[in-house]
Amino acid sequence: MTTLTESTGLAKVRIRHLRKRFEGATIDALQDINLDIVENEFVTFVGASGCGKSTLLRTIGGLEVASGGTLLIDDQAVTGPDIDRAMVFQHYSLYPWMSVIENIKFCRQLAAHTKNLTSADVEAASGRADALLRLMGLQASANAWPNQLSGGMQQRVAIARALMGRPEILLMDEPFGALDAQTREVMHDLILHVHRLEKATVVFVTHDVEEAIYLGRRVVLMAPRPGRIDTIYDVPFGEARTQDLKHTPEFLRLKREILERIRETSGMKTDLEQLQRLSAQAETV
Ligand SMILES: Nc1ncnc2c1ncn2[C@@H]1O[C@H](COP(=O)(O)OP(=O)(O)OP(=O)(O)O)[C@@H](O)[C@H]1O
Ligand SMILES: [Mg+2]
Repeated sequence: MTTLTESTGLAKVRIRHLRKRFEGATIDALQDINLDIVENEFVTFVGASGCGKSTLLRTIGGLEVASGGTLLIDDQAVTGPDIDRAMVFQHYSLYPWMSVIENIKFCRQLAAHTKNLTSADVEAASGRADALLRLMGLQASANAWPNQLSGGMQQRVAIARALMGRPEILLMDEPFGALDAQTREVMHDLILHVHRLEKATVVFVTHDVEEAIYLGRRVVLMAPRPGRIDTIYDVPFGEARTQDLKHTPEFLRLKREILERIRETSGMKTDLEQLQRLSAQAETV
């Protein structure tokens, strides 16, 4: 465990004293957030519901405006969304009237219209879309409609679409939250493979502590009311990870430690203790 907010290496994302309070709210959704995310890092965020994980991710994505502090990407202040950052959400948000391959190419086609791209650019984009189809194991589904695909496959399309513009930062908000456990395991290994190949910096929000440890080089634990960083855990398992890792004593120990801390910071522990006291009282009556 470490309380350091700064990693070694070049900071891709530098966050200093970041604050966010929504209009009409009486408490900060984000309070004094300080964090460096290094280039090519895979960092995961966990924490009780309402602790500001999505707000932080959306602020990095330029979809929310901070109320104070600084947020720099490559030393430049974030002023809004940009093609250097792509987002993937829990719900696949594919265009139902477009085939898989059209969904993947769609943003590129928009760019081609607005940026006067040459036919060579369009051809390169087409090659990229095919490569992403293969990477995601979707070759056989290139011409299928989204509603013909399983949830896991739809999320693969959403990831391929996000990767199409070669984003430097991939922002993922519970992307596997709606998938069953087996599909999730496959997606974990797929996203690690994608991360190795594409070399993007990945910022990944999840409710699932096991997922956070398996994927992250660091796990950032946030706490609610006000939303803040509580603890940053270094994950000591190196780059090569296989599913067996999840059953090792070191992995289980870290998982227990983080779960316990989430309970402590969420107020859930007090609720549970109160419940236990009430049950004990009920038994003595
Ligand atoms: N658009 C909004 N307007 C007002 N308050 C908001 C808005 N979005 C989020 N909040 C509030 O900000 C706080 C943080 O919300 P956020 O959605 O970032 O939490 P979270 O950690 O992502 O939660 P969850 O795990 O449930 O997804 C909450 O108190 C929430 O009610
Ligand atoms: Mg959220």
